[in-house]
Amino acid sequence: MKGNSGRELQNGSKTSLQNTPRIVLLLTATLLLTIIPLYLFPLLATSLAWRSQSSSSSSSSSSSSSSSDMARDSIAGLGVAQHSCDIFRGEWVPNPNAPYYTNESCRAIQEHQNCMKFGRPDTGFMKWRWKPTHCELPVFNPAQFLELVRGKSLAFVSDSVGRNQMQSLICLLVRVTYAVDASVTQDDNFRRYYFPTHNFTVASFWSPFLVRAHKVDPNASTYSGLFNLYLDEPDSIWTTKMTEFDYVIMSAGHWLLRPTMFYEGGQLVGCHNCLAPNVTDLTMYYSYRRVFRAAFRVFNSLEGFRGTVFLRTFSPSHFENGTWDNGGDCVRRQPFRRDETRLDGINLKMYMTQVEEFREAQREGREKGVRFRLLDTTDAMLLRPDGHPSRYGHLPHENVPMYNDCVHWCLPGPIDTWNDFLLHMVKNEGGRARSWNGRKSTIK
Ligand SMILES: *[C@@H]1O[C@H](CO)[C@@H](O)[C@H](O)[C@H]1NC(C)=O
Ligand SMILES: *[C@@H]1O[C@H](CO)[C@@H](O)[C@H](O)[C@H]1NC(C)=O
Ligand SMILES: *[C@@H]1O[C@H](CO)[C@@H](O)[C@H](O)[C@H]1NC(C)=O
Ligand SMILES: *[C@@H]1O[C@H](CO)[C@@H](O)[C@H](O)[C@H]1NC(C)=O
Ligand SMILES: *[C@@H]1O[C@H](CO)[C@@H](O)[C@H](O)[C@H]1NC(C)=O
Repeated sequence: MKGNSGRELQNGSKTSLQNTPRIVLLLTATLLLTIIPLYLFPLLATSLAWRSQSSSSSSSSSSSSSSSDMARDSIAGLGVAQHSCDIFRGEWVPNPNAPYYTNESCRAIQEHQNCMKFGRPDTGFMKWRWKPTHCELPVFNPAQFLELVRGKSLAFVSDSVGRNQMQSLICLLVRVTYAVDASVTQDDNFRRYYFPTHNFTVASFWSPFLVRAHKVDPNASTYSGLFNLYLDEPDSIWTTKMTEFDYVIMSAGHWLLRPTMFYEGGQLVGCHNCLAPNVTDLTMYYSYRRVFRAAFRVFNSLEGFRGTVFLRTFSPSHFENGTWDNGGDCVRRQPFRRDETRLDGINLKMYMTQVEEFREAQREGREKGVRFRLLDTTDAMLLRPDGHPSRYGHLPHENVPMYNDCVHWCLPGPIDTWNDFLLHMVKNEGGRARSWNGRKSTIK
């Protein structure tokens, strides 16, 4: 049986997860060398336009539409049935009741996201909830979630931002129960938590590129070194485990922005930012598309997989006044309003690229009986420049690769909302079985 080695994660438990800090070391460090360059938000405009056009063009655009049509469609209504509410479009509104846990009630918070521990002076960033334009999204109800997932299992396949969500989920759940660390390895990149009261398992699989990858020079820094990516070879570290899981949340993001060499069919086909004169720079959009294609194909060809695959969409960073390694920081103290920013540039292209691959996989999945669902967090998170650790992810004098972290999210914080979305979607899956042609509702 799993779990008898357990260190409990619950509040006040004498055995509470002592080595949480270790969990984190790798990850924070790892993410960021090639982060998004400074990104000034053009105040204004097209988001409103998108909204007003969206109600008429909901489901029909896919093949021949231009990228901007696709953008409008995706951002504003992504395949949503006409009169249902799209939970992913909305605005942040004040929530005096938040947060729902603290760094004292939950020991699963990784050091680098434990912003209060490192002296973040303001707490306002915790006190918002997501309000979809045409309906309400209830805040996370741990008891309800646990009932829905009784006897089931959930895997995160991703990088440290995916783990950030997993830790948020654990913190939300241990409000009403406890978890044991049932990890089968010492490797902090592969954790497994078991909730004995509900026979529910959450596991994380570290695979930041989703495909097989290794550093060209093993001695080079993980932060700036060149990686070889085998774009058509999904990483066996996760592919071999997926039949165990009922829910899989896939994501990938900032790692693809690093200098990388692309291999397909064993041949070098190009690179991103490798600066080699005889290698074509195909850009990170090429690899981003290919790694999702390869990853989704795994599920569509996996014998015995009966689960639901979620794509958790690109999580924007918010460096302003400089890049991650050159003075950029995220010092805002409240969310953007809807009309203060818009999705564009790298964020939009990464988002659109993965959503296009998702659509294709979903279409194929319908024939194969595999459910693909879009956990479409990008737009909500774009509005949260205030939710990152910035300099409060470490001690002030600590020499860390990314001093101001504008990529991960403080816990508690806005990333908790990803689990509000998740609960809604899991609920929806259950409801679907009972009344298939009732509301097709928000998620396709
Ligand atoms: C939690 O945050 C407080 C500040 O709000 C800090 O003093 C304390 O050390 C932190 N505790 C843990 C366990 O991280
Ligand atoms: C727990 O759930 C697993 C499936 O995840 C199932 O195989 C097992 O029988 C369940 N155990 C109990 C004690 O219900
Ligand atoms: C990496 O470093 C080790 C120890 O310094 C050295 O023996 C090895 O040759 C280096 N490898 C490469 C590929 O440079
Ligand atoms: C690029 O060309 C040079 C000289 O022709 C060759 O030595 C090198 O191996 C090539 N690099 C790659 C990555 O093919
Ligand atoms: C950017 O820098 C300017 C001038 O130093 C400063 O006034 C402004 O507050 C900074 N903005 C942000 C978001 O950091």
